[in-house]
Amino acid sequence: MSPNARTANPINVTEPVKKGEWHPLSWNTKPIEQLPPYPDTEQLEAAFNELKSLPPLITSWEIEALKDKLAAVSRGESFLLQGGDCAETFDACKSTKIVNLLKVLLQMSFILVHEMGTPVVRVGRIAGQYAKPRSKDFEVIDGKKILNYRGDLINSYEQNAVARTPDPQRMLEAYNKAGLTLNFLRALSDEGFADLQHPEQWELDFMKNNEYYKDYVAMVNSIHKAINFMETITPNTFNTLHKVDLYTSHEALNLYYDSAQTRKVPRKSDWFNLSSHMVWVGNRTRDIDGAHVEYLKGIANPIGIKVGPPFEIDDILKLIETLNPNHEAGKIVLITRMGVDEVESMLSPLIKAVKKEGHPVIWSCDPMHGNTFSTNSSIKTRRFGDILDEIRSTFAVHRAEGSYLGGVHLELTGDNVTECVGGANGLSEKGLDTNYETYCDPRLNYEQSLEMAFLVAKEWNKSYR
Ligand code: PEP
Ligand code: CO
Repeated sequence: MSPNARTANPINVTEPVKKGEWHPLSWNTKPIEQLPPYPDTEQLEAAFNELKSLPPLITSWEIEALKDKLAAVSRGESFLLQGGDCAETFDACKSTKIVNLLKVLLQMSFILVHEMGTPVVRVGRIAGQYAKPRSKDFEVIDGKKILNYRGDLINSYEQNAVARTPDPQRMLEAYNKAGLTLNFLRALSDEGFADLQHPEQWELDFMKNNEYYKDYVAMVNSIHKAINFMETITPNTFNTLHKVDLYTSHEALNLYYDSAQTRKVPRKSDWFNLSSHMVWVGNRTRDIDGAHVEYLKGIANPIGIKVGPPFEIDDILKLIETLNPNHEAGKIVLITRMGVDEVESMLSPLIKAVKKEGHPVIWSCDPMHGNTFSTNSSIKTRRFGDILDEIRSTFAVHRAEGSYLGGVHLELTGDNVTECVGGANGLSEKGLDTNYETYCDPRLNYEQSLEMAFLVAKEWNKSYR
């Protein structure tokens, strides 16, 4: 256990529980990382109990449906596209942002489906992605040491000690904002997104600078043709995207938020985290003896595990076994984030070991978190080229091991931000200032995301077609 782990604020368990048995608060007695103490436990408990009494955001049926779809990914029959902001903020709970994220994820998935000829499961980092692990607990502002910002679910971005104090009321605001986001996503997915299927309305001129522009135009024309054909033969079923499935996910970091929304449902024996379809455990909180793993081992949701340096293969194997003792397919998504220089040496022994144990995991590549750096003017960024190269190397290693890379996990937005350098439009370090919005990690913008989808499909085809 790392020296940074501490005791969590204790919450009274109100339901009868058998000694030694898992329950949504059994993590509460374990050491916890990445969550600063709340100054007032009574207030925390009041917020926790209020959150616990509110209706769930999603249903157990949806969680089970996602797990079935992920099981198909683990069998190599489908592909997982997971993406969204590094951190959602309460202020950004706005119609344009939500529409733009749904739009870019849908367009990316059309590109993947069309180019790869395989179904795509879409999972957003959305409607709950409000808490962040940080490498440092504190920062110094005007000579004063204050707590670091840890996402709107925990404290506020403003640089003063009061704003940075963890505030339990934020859990209720996060629940409200997640609910509003999800409500709008569901409405958009039911109706009103018909135009998105028409690639002639996509903004693609930027691709002219990509070496594959011709292939890209050919793909767009062919999607266009296929859609026109379908609309002619079945006009009523195809002119709206009937039920676009977009599942939600976030890092289960603030366990008070997640456990207050962890419930039993009628006629099922499992516990479900009903705040999100899928949750993941971060690279810094996956200690087998820690609070996060204790919490995650009791829920039925699909679970992502971030794996990047430093890690021991045996620890990862133990973790998979602990979180999925029944070896259920569709349950564990191993999200590797090695960094472009490390992936070749680190990934293949891990694939071999997981294979040997016979774990039916879904392999996904997060090419973002191992490739962050700061420019000379201290702007946090990532190179499009490094991101792509980590994806390419990850595909190559899986190909060599006879293993299926079934997904990508990207930090992206549908907005025209300038946070990552490179891509067909050749955004330079100087250009980062133009529209740099993120409070946390740099995201691919709309154009870079579409281009990335196209390049991911190319790599997938090299490996699996
Ligand atoms: C993240 O996904 O935003 C993140 C912090 O990732 P990791 O835990 O892999 O560093
Ligand atoms: Co991030």
